[in-house]
Amino acid sequence: MTEAAASQTAMIEIIKVGKSYPPNVTALTDISVSIASGEIFFLIGRSGAGKTTLLKLLCNMEKPTNGLIEVAGMNIHQVTGNKLAKLRQRVGMAYQDFRLLTDRTVAENIAISMEVSYKKNQIIRNRVRSLLAQLQLEDKHDILTGDLSRGEQQRVAIARAVANSPALILVDEPTGNLDATSTEQVMELLIRCRNSGATIVIATHDEALYRHSTHRIMKLHNGRLDSLTRGDGQGQPNTAGATDDTGATGGSGDGI
Ligand SMILES: Nc1ncnc2c1ncn2[C@@H]1O[C@H](COP(=O)(O)OP(=O)(O)OP(=O)(O)O)[C@@H](O)[C@H]1O
Ligand SMILES: [Mg+2]
Repeated sequence: MTEAAASQTAMIEIIKVGKSYPPNVTALTDISVSIASGEIFFLIGRSGAGKTTLLKLLCNMEKPTNGLIEVAGMNIHQVTGNKLAKLRQRVGMAYQDFRLLTDRTVAENIAISMEVSYKKNQIIRNRVRSLLAQLQLEDKHDILTGDLSRGEQQRVAIARAVANSPALILVDEPTGNLDATSTEQVMELLIRCRNSGATIVIATHDEALYRHSTHRIMKLHNGRLDSLTRGDGQGQPNTAGATDDTGATGGSGDGI
């Protein structure tokens, strides 16, 4: 599915959201935006602008102080029980600080989200190998993630976030430690996920990722929405035909 063909139904509705931390930090103020199902959406702004805070609200790690957030029509901070567990399985987050299990192997880290949703071992093994191949990490399959370089850890964190083909993928500064080739591979992987139906929100400082894209770009400044623009569409890498060749299921794009 191309972005143009993506459903216009909103995957994410952020309505007048604010977030404060005690005693007196205001991380976000009055943020409202709607993100369509199947959209790739960039979140930019200087260090401390509130990008990570917004992603943490979207994956339900933190609760907003004001306003509400709907994902696939659900107020994510009110759902409980089975619905919450299901929602968590359908959202993948690659954290800025990776949060890998450093005493487990690369393959074990990537497999985690699929094991939680009871996928068959063979499917998990194939998906892990496919992701490692796409990120040129095949030879790291059995290495402890604590022994990897920062750039390798970053790519494993991204592989883990997308492994279960979640409907919503949140990536926080995904290319901060990567060279140009690895950056391109990560973006191609994310575009493949989008082409399989996922909605993707990317927080980044890396202008090269968004400036020449056709995607929307929301700039935060001191926790407020500063601008909502679109890339200039020049020099878009030719990855529109990239397909998810993994055989993994999910990522329907029309719900959680
Ligand atoms: N748990 C917390 N307690 C107190 N203040 C916090 C907490 N988390 C974030 N903040 C503050 O909220 C503001 C926004 O932080 P956030 O991490 O969202 O910024 P960011 O845009 O992701 O920055 P960077 O580009 O450096 O990653 C900052 O001033 C930060 O210090
Ligand atoms: Mg951040």
